[in-house]
Amino acid sequence: MYAALRSIGSYIPENILTNQDLEKMVDTSDEWIVKRTGIKERRIANDDEVTSDLGYKAALKAIDRADININEIDMVICATLSPDYLTMPSTAAMISKKLGITNVMAFDISAACTGFVYLLSLAKSFIESGAKKNILIIGAEKISSVVDYEDRTTCILFGDGAGAAVIGATEDKNEAIIDVLASADGNYGDLLITPGCGSKNPIREDNVKDKLQYMKMSGNEVFKVAVKTLTNDVIEILEKNKIDASEVDMFIPHQANYRIVEAVRTKLNFPLEKTALTVSKYGNTSSASIPMAMNDLYEEGKIKKGDLMLLDAFGGGFTWGSALIRFAGKNF
Ligand code: COA
Repeated sequence: MYAALRSIGSYIPENILTNQDLEKMVDTSDEWIVKRTGIKERRIANDDEVTSDLGYKAALKAIDRADININEIDMVICATLSPDYLTMPSTAAMISKKLGITNVMAFDISAACTGFVYLLSLAKSFIESGAKKNILIIGAEKISSVVDYEDRTTCILFGDGAGAAVIGATEDKNEAIIDVLASADGNYGDLLITPGCGSKNPIREDNVKDKLQYMKMSGNEVFKVAVKTLTNDVIEILEKNKIDASEVDMFIPHQANYRIVEAVRTKLNFPLEKTALTVSKYGNTSSASIPMAMNDLYEEGKIKKGDLMLLDAFGGGFTWGSALIRFAGKNF
């Protein structure tokens, strides 16, 4: 049995936070943000919308496009760094409840911006082992809930959103997810971290006063490791599978910063028209960034059945990974 990516869907919150809005909140400028990151605006969920609401709406689209019944889903996994609740219940369980799925395995994973690639690896293994047949994977983030809007070094970068896909079993090798590579190195943990609210710095008045509940980042150091790692990821997976870069129809890297995507793209000689670029309108949506970008390309008719997609992600942990996938859904 092989695993096939049967569909893609996303949910993009309505509220837009522009660079001009941020100019009124912190000491920054549209010019600085665009020059350093390529980001012009990002989406912010409503106060009464939680991460599972975003994930649920993306999941509905993905299930509909996979041409399956909701009750055929036999596992739900969500990647998020901004879960509905810190410890339990899981965001995947909340999404399942909203979908009306109440009797299947549902759990979250923590792999920051590499979350969607980790999900693909898990779904592929569960399906290839024969344990499951239709797995719903979701990257969903209300990152605005863990961002300090007084910290100009992080608040300009991130946005909210969700993306989802159905991974189904197939006997046709031509439809299969070809390969997924994923790794982590906790030695870099401190460079991109939400220090508070876990067992290390529990929710206490002093920790909250020190704003430990918000993410902190050493931007410059993260940037350098990200470019190197994302480039190596691509070289490794292409070489391992004896696939030439020219055979790739669409390169879909994690959307953290235009300069990071450009550095990787030019090092690897991918044409601009074959590279996903959504960071200017969504910012960095962490685990949702790759499926949101894939969904936009799909809806624009730029990804068709049989197309070879190369995914490439990097994030806190550090975590990183890549995937080679043939799109096995119906055309938009
Ligand atoms: N507006 C204006 N100035 C800002 C600013 C902002 N929003 N944020 C930082 N600055 C200032 C700094 O204070 C610094 O000033 P100084 O030179 O007087 O000390 C200057 O701009 C340069 O800061 P630096 O951090 O060196 O800039 P940079 O070129 O590295 O760009 C990032 C900063 C965050 C855009 C960049 O490092 C980056 O994108 N890193 C990767 C982040 C990322 O992708 N994280 C997620 C990975 S999944």
